[in-house]
Amino acid sequence: MSPDTPARGRFITLEGPEGSGKSTAARHLVGWLRGRGLSAVLTHEPGGTPLGEEVRRIVLHMRGMSDDLEPRADALLYAAGRAQHVERVIRPALERGEWVVCARYADSSLAYQGAGYGNDMTELRRLQEFATGGLWPDLTLLIDVPVEVGLERTRRRSEWNRFEDTEGAAFFEAVRAAYLRLAADEPERFEVVDGSVSVEEADAAIAGIVAARYLR
Ligand code: TYD
Repeated sequence: MSPDTPARGRFITLEGPEGSGKSTAARHLVGWLRGRGLSAVLTHEPGGTPLGEEVRRIVLHMRGMSDDLEPRADALLYAAGRAQHVERVIRPALERGEWVVCARYADSSLAYQGAGYGNDMTELRRLQEFATGGLWPDLTLLIDVPVEVGLERTRRRSEWNRFEDTEGAAFFEAVRAAYLRLAADEPERFEVVDGSVSVEEADAAIAGIVAARYLR
Protein backbone atom coordinates (compact mmCIF):
# COMPACT_ATOMS: atom_id res chain seq x y z
CA MET A 1 0.00 0.00 0.00
CA SER A 2 1.48 3.39 -0.94
CA PRO A 3 1.63 5.98 1.86
CA ASP A 4 -1.15 8.09 0.33
CA THR A 5 -3.59 5.21 -0.26
CA PRO A 6 -5.94 5.11 2.72
CA ALA A 7 -6.34 1.68 4.30
CA ARG A 8 -9.40 -0.11 2.93
CA GLY A 9 -12.35 0.22 5.26
CA ARG A 10 -12.99 -2.65 7.65
CA PHE A 11 -16.04 -3.76 9.55
CA ILE A 12 -15.36 -3.74 13.28
CA THR A 13 -17.88 -4.69 15.95
CA LEU A 14 -17.70 -4.22 19.70
CA GLU A 15 -19.36 -6.79 21.89
CA GLY A 16 -19.60 -7.53 25.55
CA PRO A 17 -21.91 -7.85 28.51
CA GLU A 18 -23.86 -4.98 30.05
CA GLY A 19 -21.78 -2.01 31.13
CA SER A 20 -18.58 -3.16 29.48
CA GLY A 21 -18.05 0.24 27.86
CA LYS A 22 -18.71 -0.72 24.24
CA SER A 23 -20.43 2.50 23.21
CA THR A 24 -17.73 4.75 24.59
CA ALA A 25 -15.00 2.58 23.10
CA ALA A 26 -16.79 2.57 19.72
CA ARG A 27 -17.07 6.36 19.73
CA HIS A 28 -13.43 6.77 20.66
CA LEU A 29 -12.29 4.27 18.03
CA VAL A 30 -14.13 6.20 15.33
CA GLY A 31 -12.49 9.43 16.52
CA TRP A 32 -9.11 7.73 16.45
CA LEU A 33 -9.65 6.42 12.89
CA ARG A 34 -10.83 9.84 11.68
CA GLY A 35 -7.77 11.38 13.31
CA ARG A 36 -5.74 9.22 10.94
CA GLY A 37 -7.58 10.70 7.95
CA LEU A 38 -9.81 7.66 7.53
CA SER A 39 -13.51 7.84 6.84
CA ALA A 40 -15.43 5.96 9.54
CA VAL A 41 -19.11 5.41 10.32
CA LEU A 42 -20.26 4.92 13.93
CA THR A 43 -23.38 2.85 14.44
CA HIS A 44 -25.04 0.48 16.92
CA GLU A 45 -27.59 -2.29 17.42
CA PRO A 46 -30.35 -2.61 18.15
CA GLY A 47 -30.79 0.55 16.08
CA GLY A 48 -28.89 2.25 13.33
CA THR A 49 -31.94 2.81 11.09
CA PRO A 50 -35.48 4.10 11.76
CA LEU A 51 -36.72 0.47 11.76
CA GLY A 52 -33.86 -0.55 14.04
CA GLU A 53 -34.69 2.20 16.54
CA GLU A 54 -38.32 1.07 16.53
CA VAL A 55 -37.19 -2.52 17.18
CA ARG A 56 -35.03 -1.20 20.00
CA ARG A 57 -38.06 0.41 21.62
CA ILE A 58 -40.07 -2.81 21.34
CA VAL A 59 -37.40 -5.20 22.58
CA LEU A 60 -35.94 -3.03 25.33
CA HIS A 61 -38.12 -0.22 26.54
CA MET A 62 -41.84 -1.07 26.33
CA ARG A 63 -43.01 -2.33 29.68
CA GLY A 64 -45.38 -5.26 29.28
CA MET A 65 -44.05 -6.08 25.81
CA SER A 66 -40.26 -6.04 26.02
CA ASP A 67 -40.35 -8.23 29.11
CA ASP A 68 -42.93 -10.65 27.68
CA LEU A 69 -41.41 -11.79 24.36
CA GLU A 70 -41.25 -15.39 23.22
CA PRO A 71 -37.59 -16.33 22.61
CA ARG A 72 -38.07 -16.87 18.86
CA ALA A 73 -40.05 -13.65 18.47
CA ASP A 74 -37.27 -11.82 20.31
CA ALA A 75 -34.57 -13.28 18.05
CA LEU A 76 -36.56 -12.43 14.91
CA LEU A 77 -37.10 -8.83 15.97
CA TYR A 78 -33.38 -8.25 16.46
CA ALA A 79 -32.75 -10.04 13.15
CA ALA A 80 -35.22 -7.83 11.27
CA GLY A 81 -33.49 -4.71 12.55
CA ARG A 82 -30.13 -6.21 11.63
CA ALA A 83 -31.15 -6.99 8.04
CA GLN A 84 -32.28 -3.42 7.48
CA HIS A 85 -29.13 -2.07 9.12
CA VAL A 86 -26.81 -4.23 7.00
CA GLU A 87 -28.39 -3.30 3.68
CA ARG A 88 -29.07 0.38 4.34
CA VAL A 89 -26.05 1.41 6.40
CA ILE A 90 -23.24 -1.09 6.87
CA ARG A 91 -22.79 -2.64 3.44
CA PRO A 92 -23.13 0.67 1.54
CA ALA A 93 -20.49 2.28 3.77
CA LEU A 94 -18.09 -0.64 3.26
CA GLU A 95 -18.69 -0.47 -0.48
CA ARG A 96 -17.72 3.20 -0.39
CA GLY A 97 -14.45 2.08 1.23
CA GLU A 98 -15.33 3.48 4.66
CA TRP A 99 -14.71 1.89 8.03
CA VAL A 100 -17.76 0.80 9.99
CA VAL A 101 -17.63 0.58 13.77
CA CYS A 102 -20.74 -1.01 15.25
CA ALA A 103 -21.57 -1.44 18.95
CA ARG A 104 -23.22 -4.89 19.10
CA TYR A 105 -24.11 -7.08 16.11
CA ALA A 106 -24.91 -10.73 15.41
CA ASP A 107 -22.75 -12.06 18.26
CA SER A 108 -25.07 -10.25 20.69
CA SER A 109 -27.90 -12.42 19.43
CA LEU A 110 -25.83 -15.57 19.83
CA ALA A 111 -24.96 -14.61 23.39
CA TYR A 112 -28.30 -13.17 24.57
CA GLN A 113 -30.96 -14.90 22.46
CA GLY A 114 -28.93 -18.13 22.48
CA ALA A 115 -27.12 -18.60 25.78
CA GLY A 116 -29.39 -16.16 27.63
CA TYR A 117 -32.86 -17.09 26.34
CA GLY A 118 -32.27 -20.65 25.21
CA ASN A 119 -32.82 -20.46 21.45
CA ASP A 120 -31.10 -23.27 19.60
CA MET A 121 -27.60 -22.13 18.59
CA THR A 122 -27.58 -23.80 15.19
CA GLU A 123 -30.91 -22.26 14.22
CA LEU A 124 -29.79 -18.93 15.59
CA ARG A 125 -26.60 -18.98 13.54
CA ARG A 126 -28.65 -19.71 10.43
CA LEU A 127 -30.88 -16.78 11.29
CA GLN A 128 -27.84 -14.51 11.59
CA GLU A 129 -26.59 -15.66 8.17
CA PHE A 130 -30.00 -14.86 6.71
CA ALA A 131 -30.32 -11.50 8.45
CA THR A 132 -26.84 -10.29 7.55
CA GLY A 133 -26.71 -11.79 4.05
CA GLY A 134 -23.53 -13.48 5.26
CA LEU A 135 -21.78 -10.26 6.31
CA TRP A 136 -19.60 -10.99 9.36
CA PRO A 137 -17.18 -8.47 10.87
CA ASP A 138 -13.50 -8.41 9.95
CA LEU A 139 -12.75 -7.85 13.63
CA THR A 140 -14.83 -8.23 16.78
CA LEU A 141 -13.54 -6.62 19.95
CA LEU A 142 -15.00 -8.44 22.93
CA ILE A 143 -14.84 -6.06 25.86
CA ASP A 144 -14.96 -8.36 28.81
CA VAL A 145 -15.86 -7.33 32.34
CA PRO A 146 -16.93 -9.31 35.39
CA VAL A 147 -20.74 -9.32 35.57
CA GLU A 148 -20.92 -7.39 38.85
CA VAL A 149 -18.65 -4.62 37.57
CA GLY A 150 -20.75 -4.20 34.43
CA LEU A 151 -24.08 -4.29 36.25
CA GLU A 152 -22.91 -1.74 38.79
CA ARG A 153 -22.06 0.64 35.92
CA THR A 154 -25.48 0.19 34.29
CA ARG A 155 -27.38 0.81 37.54
CA ARG A 156 -26.39 4.45 37.19
CA ARG A 157 -28.37 4.77 33.94
CA SER A 158 -31.89 6.14 33.99
CA GLU A 159 -34.05 4.65 31.18
CA TRP A 160 -35.94 1.48 32.13
CA ASN A 161 -35.09 -1.63 30.16
CA ARG A 162 -36.48 -5.13 30.35
CA PHE A 163 -33.44 -6.65 32.00
CA GLU A 164 -33.75 -4.57 35.12
CA ASP A 165 -36.80 -6.35 36.48
CA THR A 166 -36.42 -9.79 35.00
CA GLU A 167 -32.87 -11.05 34.73
CA GLY A 168 -30.48 -11.86 37.54
CA ALA A 169 -26.75 -12.43 37.73
CA ALA A 170 -27.01 -16.04 36.41
CA PHE A 171 -28.42 -14.78 33.11
CA PHE A 172 -25.56 -12.33 32.66
CA GLU A 173 -22.98 -14.93 33.68
CA ALA A 174 -24.33 -17.18 30.91
CA VAL A 175 -24.08 -14.32 28.41
CA ARG A 176 -20.51 -13.53 29.43
CA ALA A 177 -19.47 -17.18 29.22
CA ALA A 178 -21.06 -17.48 25.78
CA TYR A 179 -19.10 -14.48 24.53
CA LEU A 180 -15.84 -15.97 25.79
CA ARG A 181 -16.67 -19.25 24.03
CA LEU A 182 -17.43 -17.43 20.77
CA ALA A 183 -14.07 -15.65 21.04
CA ALA A 184 -12.22 -18.90 21.72
CA ASP A 185 -13.94 -20.58 18.75
CA GLU A 186 -12.96 -17.84 16.28
CA PRO A 187 -9.61 -16.45 17.38
CA GLU A 188 -8.91 -14.90 13.95
CA ARG A 189 -11.96 -12.66 14.19
CA PHE A 190 -12.09 -11.94 17.93
CA GLU A 191 -9.80 -9.99 20.22
CA VAL A 192 -10.64 -9.92 23.92
CA VAL A 193 -10.07 -6.56 25.62
CA ASP A 194 -10.11 -6.07 29.40
CA GLY A 195 -13.02 -3.70 30.10
CA SER A 196 -12.36 -3.32 33.81
CA VAL A 197 -9.46 -0.91 33.23
CA SER A 198 -9.80 2.87 32.67
CA VAL A 199 -11.40 4.21 29.50
CA GLU A 200 -8.00 5.50 28.36
CA GLU A 201 -6.37 2.11 28.83
CA ALA A 202 -9.14 0.30 26.96
CA ASP A 203 -8.93 2.87 24.12
CA ALA A 204 -5.18 2.37 23.87
CA ALA A 205 -5.53 -1.41 23.79
CA ILE A 206 -8.12 -1.18 21.02
CA ALA A 207 -6.09 1.30 18.96
CA GLY A 208 -3.08 -1.00 19.32
CA ILE A 209 -5.05 -3.98 18.03
CA VAL A 210 -6.50 -2.10 15.05
CA ALA A 211 -3.14 -0.55 14.14
CA ALA A 212 -1.34 -3.88 14.36
CA ARG A 213 -3.93 -5.62 12.19
CA TYR A 214 -4.63 -3.03 9.54
CA LEU A 215 -2.54 0.13 9.64
CA ARG A 216 1.06 -0.94 9.49
P1 TYD B 1 -27.30 -1.37 24.64
O1 TYD B 1 -28.11 -0.17 24.50
O2 TYD B 1 -26.41 -1.74 23.53
O3 TYD B 1 -26.56 -1.20 25.98
P2 TYD B 1 -25.28 -1.90 26.52
O4 TYD B 1 -24.50 -2.32 25.33
O5 TYD B 1 -24.65 -0.83 27.28
O6 TYD B 1 -25.73 -3.02 27.33
O7 TYD B 1 -28.24 -2.59 25.05
C1 TYD B 1 -28.83 -3.33 24.18
C2 TYD B 1 -29.43 -4.51 24.88
O8 TYD B 1 -29.96 -5.35 23.87
C3 TYD B 1 -28.45 -5.35 25.66
O9 TYD B 1 -28.94 -5.66 26.92
C4 TYD B 1 -28.32 -6.63 24.87
C5 TYD B 1 -29.54 -6.66 24.03
N1 TYD B 1 -29.34 -7.28 22.70
C6 TYD B 1 -29.76 -8.57 22.48
O10 TYD B 1 -30.28 -9.23 23.38
N2 TYD B 1 -29.60 -9.12 21.24
C7 TYD B 1 -29.04 -8.45 20.21
O11 TYD B 1 -28.90 -9.00 19.09
C8 TYD B 1 -28.59 -7.10 20.44
C9 TYD B 1 -27.98 -6.30 19.33
C10 TYD B 1 -28.77 -6.55 21.70
